[in-house]
Amino acid sequence: MKDFIWNVDTKILFGKDYLKDLPKEIKKYGDRVLITYGGGSIKKIGLYDEVVKILEKENIFYKELGGIEPNPRVESAREGVKIVRENDINFILAIGGGSVIDLSKLIAAATFVDADPWKIVIREEKIEKALPIGTILTLAATGSEMNGGGVITNPETKQKLGFGSPLVKPKFSILDPEITYSVNAKHTVAGVADIMSHTMENYFTLDKDTYLQNRMSEAILKTCIHYGPILLEEPENYEARANIMWASSWAINGLVKTGKDTNWSVHPMEHELSAFYDLTHGIGLAILTPRFLSYILDDDTVDMIRDFGINVFGIKPSDDKFQDAKKAIGALHAFFEQELHVPMTLEEVGIDDEHLEEMAKRAAENAGGSIKGVKELKEEDILEIYKASLF
Ligand code: NZQ
Ligand code: ZN
Repeated sequence: MKDFIWNVDTKILFGKDYLKDLPKEIKKYGDRVLITYGGGSIKKIGLYDEVVKILEKENIFYKELGGIEPNPRVESAREGVKIVRENDINFILAIGGGSVIDLSKLIAAATFVDADPWKIVIREEKIEKALPIGTILTLAATGSEMNGGGVITNPETKQKLGFGSPLVKPKFSILDPEITYSVNAKHTVAGVADIMSHTMENYFTLDKDTYLQNRMSEAILKTCIHYGPILLEEPENYEARANIMWASSWAINGLVKTGKDTNWSVHPMEHELSAFYDLTHGIGLAILTPRFLSYILDDDTVDMIRDFGINVFGIKPSDDKFQDAKKAIGALHAFFEQELHVPMTLEEVGIDDEHLEEMAKRAAENAGGSIKGVKELKEEDILEIYKASLF
C-alpha cells in the first residue's frame, strides 16, 4: 500500500431536519451570502423558498445566481465573480447537484484571481485562496459535496476540464435524501452510474495490497446495484435515496483511492462526449465503461475484472478466468441496460462517428498525450473504445 494523507474536513449534516442549522453553519464563515442554483428545480420543490425564509429570518444578507446549466459553463462563473465583488460576498451557498456545486467552487477561487476564471481551469492561474462554500445537495451523483474537485465547460473551445484544490472543498454539506425524491428517472440513473464509475475508476487498478479499499469499493457498488433499480420503482423510498446519497459522497471523497495508483480512464473519455454533445455525464460513463473493460482485458487485468464479477455480481468462478471476466463485463452492461434502463449505445444518445477522431485526439491531449490509467490508452485506443460504443 502506498503512503497517503487523507483529510476530508467537510462537515456532513445528513437527514431530514438540518436545514434549520443553516444560519448557524453559515455564520461560522460569513454573513454576506451568494446563493447559487440551477434551472429552477429548487423552486419547484419549494426548497428555494424555504432557504430564503431561513436567511431572511436571521437577517443574513444574500444575493443569488440562478440558471447554472448542467455541464456548467465558465460564463456563469464570470457572472458569479462579478456579483461577489460588487456585493462583498464572503460565503457561497450552493444548492443543487454537481453542476451548481462545481461552478460555485470556481467562483470561490476565481474571486481572488485577477484573470478570467477559465485560466484556473486550464491551470494558467493557481488557486491560492477561496471563499468558503457550503452546499445543500439536491442530486446524488458527483460527490462534489465532499471533495475539492470541479468540472467546467467552455463551449467556445469545446473543452470540458477538471480543476481542484482542497481550498474549495465545502465547509459543510446538508444531505437530505428527501430533497432528491423529485429527481427524474433519467438523472437518478445517471447519478447511480456516475457513483459506480467513480468507484470503479478507483477500484480497477493493478495494486495487489489494498484489500480493504477494494472491499469498501465493492460495498459501494453493491449498494448502487441493490438500490438503483428500487429508485426507479419507488422514487420516494427514503432508505434507497439515503443509501445512494451516502454512496455518492464516499465513492469520491478520496477514501477508496487511498494507497492506490489511481489514474482515471473512463472520465477523461466521457468528458469529451459531454463537451461535444452536452451529454448527461453518467449516461456517457455507463455506455463507455463495459467497452473500456473489454478493451483492456488481458493477462494483467483479468484477475481484477474476474474478482469484480465474483464479489460484486456474484458470478460463480470457473476454471476459465477470461470467461469469468467476460461474464463480469456482461453483467455490468446488462445491469445498466436492463435494470437501470440506460441507453447503452452512442447512437441512441445521438452521437455518430463524425467527431470520434477529434474527441479521441483531445482526450489524449488533455491527459498529457495519453490516458495513463490501469492500462495506457493512446489516441488510437480511445478511438477504438468510442467506436465499440457506437452501436
Ligand atoms: O438545473 P435544475 O433545474 O436544478 O435541474 C437539475 C439538472 O437539470 C436536475 N436536478 C438536480 N436536483 C434536482 C433536480 N431535478 C429535480 N429535483 C432535484 N432535487 O438534475 C439535472 C442535472 O443536474 P447536474 O447538477 O448537472 O447533475 P450532476 O449532479 O450529475 O452533475 C453533473 C456535473 O458534475 C460533473 C459532471 O461532469 C457534470 O458536469 N462532475 C463533477 C465531479 C466532481 N466535482 O467531483 C466529478 C464527476 O465525475 C463529474 O465529472
Ligand atoms: Zn463522474
